Amino acid sequence: MRMALKLVLPLIISVVVVSLLFAAYQVRTERRILRGDLSRRAEILGQGLQEGIEPLLDKIPDKNGPAEKNPDRALQRLVDRFEGRERLRGVAVYSATGATLAITPGISSIFEKWPDIVKNAAEKDQEQGQFVRETAIDKSGNDEILPLHIQAVPLHRDGELAGALALFDDTSYIDVQLEHTLRDSLVNAFVQTLLIACLAVILVRWTFMRPLRRTAHWLRTLRTGTLNGAKTPPGLPEGEIFDQLHQEVTHLARDLNTARATAEEEARLRETGASIWTGERLRVSLQSKLNGTPLFVVSNREPYMHVRDQSGGSTQVIVPASGLVTALEPVLLACNGTWVANGTGNADREVVDENDRLRVPPDLPSYTLRRVWLTDEEERGFYEGFSNEGLWPLCHIAHTRPLFRPEDWIQYQRINRRFADVVLQEMEGTESPILLAQDYHFALLPRMVKDARPDARVAIFWHIPWPNQEMFGICPWQKELVDGLLGADLIGFHIQTHCNNFLETVDHSVEALTEWDRFSVNRNGHVTRVRPYPISVAFPDSASANGDTRGAVVERAAICSELGIEASLLGIGVDRVDYTKGILERFRAIERLLDLYPAYQRRFSLIQIGAPSRTDIARYRDFLEEVTAEAERINAKFHSGRWRPIVLLRWHHSHEEIARYYRAASVCVVTSLHDGMNLVAKEFVASREDESGVLVLSTFAGAAHELTDALLVNPYDVQQLSEAIHQALEMPEGEQVKRMQWMRNAVREHNIYRWAANLLSDLTEIRIETTERGEVRQAQ
Ligand code: G6P
Repeated sequence: MRMALKLVLPLIISVVVVSLLFAAYQVRTERRILRGDLSRRAEILGQGLQEGIEPLLDKIPDKNGPAEKNPDRALQRLVDRFEGRERLRGVAVYSATGATLAITPGISSIFEKWPDIVKNAAEKDQEQGQFVRETAIDKSGNDEILPLHIQAVPLHRDGELAGALALFDDTSYIDVQLEHTLRDSLVNAFVQTLLIACLAVILVRWTFMRPLRRTAHWLRTLRTGTLNGAKTPPGLPEGEIFDQLHQEVTHLARDLNTARATAEEEARLRETGASIWTGERLRVSLQSKLNGTPLFVVSNREPYMHVRDQSGGSTQVIVPASGLVTALEPVLLACNGTWVANGTGNADREVVDENDRLRVPPDLPSYTLRRVWLTDEEERGFYEGFSNEGLWPLCHIAHTRPLFRPEDWIQYQRINRRFADVVLQEMEGTESPILLAQDYHFALLPRMVKDARPDARVAIFWHIPWPNQEMFGICPWQKELVDGLLGADLIGFHIQTHCNNFLETVDHSVEALTEWDRFSVNRNGHVTRVRPYPISVAFPDSASANGDTRGAVVERAAICSELGIEASLLGIGVDRVDYTKGILERFRAIERLLDLYPAYQRRFSLIQIGAPSRTDIARYRDFLEEVTAEAERINAKFHSGRWRPIVLLRWHHSHEEIARYYRAASVCVVTSLHDGMNLVAKEFVASREDESGVLVLSTFAGAAHELTDALLVNPYDVQQLSEAIHQALEMPEGEQVKRMQWMRNAVREHNIYRWAANLLSDLTEIRIETTERGEVRQAQ
């Protein structure tokens, strides 16, 4: 209450001051009106009396003529008639010399001598009026102040001044009336102020104090950490005025949570002697390693797409389903920088500035996204054609024939040049910049950048497998691709096998010295290191996990009711719908499982999240149809009531949505026919805080090298795969926990921050020097 009063005090003072000024103005106006009325009335009466008195003056003897009998008695009678009329206190008639000729008795004692105003009017021969205050003696002999108005009218005889008439009006009624007006105004002001103050206090308490108090309580709960597992406490008030404040407070809370979790994590690590990389540690480490030099990243896929729905309604921000985006976002968040990428959202152009840049993430801008625009034709040749119909199947042994069209190759070279130019433009003014190029879309870019900026440290990370040299030799432009890659100072792959395959390809395709013992290639004096960096996810600590920590059982029930299915056991598969992911093999294994173990019919369902991907490519469109048809076939074979063996969700899901499915599932099935790493496997493990659930993982995914406690399978062997799923569903809780704990430790330790730290620390250790001849080159 006192706080609310304090807040409204300035308002109350303002209201009081305004009310007082208004009251004063009202009194002044009223006085002017009343006095004006009185003056006018006195003038009219004065003129009337003047006409009546002047003839009587003829009868008063002048110094030359005889006096008529009792002329001043007639005058006296006349003035007597006006005594006490309305507000007239009295009337007096004076001679030209100021002698009293007639006067009403009530004022005779005060105005026996003509007052100055009357004398003045006579001398100037001009009618005059004046408000005065005279002192008189009242009946009890005390002094009395009389407020009066005197109207003085000159009198004439035969056209000559013969005296003056004075009318004395009592103006005390004006004072009384003004007092009333003043009193009324003050009462009004007081009531108004009181009402406004009360309303203001109520409003402030209702609109500000209560929500502020709730916000304060919310913050206190957050600070003291009594959250009972939730990410943020409930009960943050809503409302337009508070929305912005709440957004900031929520960010603050998130930062606080993260800082607390980091501190706890670090304390725990000190305690156990382990060394875990966190976002904060990466930021600090990069700050000292990069020494303020910003980080540049280039990839085809952008981390945020702005998409407007077909009806032209509101714009939505989408995080694309891409392992690359999942991995790189935490790195950029940890160390500000610029990410150059292909703007593919249909509303992307609407949100960039004149330099095609914008700050992201939208809710907490931390780094710059620079968008590059491609025409449909360029997109077809560079992305769909050469990258995804050529290199993608070339590098994945998944039995889809690579297509290498010369016109696609031309676009691939052009677009690599375009991106290299944009990267160089962004690097302008930055000394010794650091570039992390991403993936098979940009094999030529490292050489292009390095040729123009020998002082730059350039790394490229190849997110997909590198096949053996015979396989890669299929590509008509293998020499150019290898040469482009060797422009980098460092090339990263997920696993050692891919590094070995690359070095063998180098040996067979270009003139270079391959140093197998140091895992590097020397081409024309420039050394390229080739190293494995197993990519990962940002392992969420419990405090900053996705908030909702409902148990698997509750989550499963909620999901089943949302999807309108009935099942007591859930499996989960999450993939872009891509022929490398073994989705058909997975479905057939479910069919086999239900055939072999009918007890799982009407009990177990596989939820397959399948984000449609690269649908402009015929092979992908056909594959989406094949996957849908296979799910329908199997469902038709087994379905019963509200139970279905396969629930295919063919649309994009956010990370948060997917996390719910991970938590609800008894088993996660990753069946890639060939995969660089596969982050779904690591995401599943990272999201299982309850240390339960089983991972079935293809041996052909890079992740199988680290997650050896998964049930490892050959996805081509449908029988083996179905047995593995069965084993997962039957696995005792104790074994599940043991396996999950080991896998969680592996992912926690080898998280995305360690990946970035290792890659960037190897890159920053490469020394670049300027020779005596002014040449910039690597120090040997
Ligand atoms: C997967 C691969 C990445 C690749 C990405 C491209 O995530 O692991 O190496 O960059 O797909 O997907 P996109 O949808 O951009 O073609």
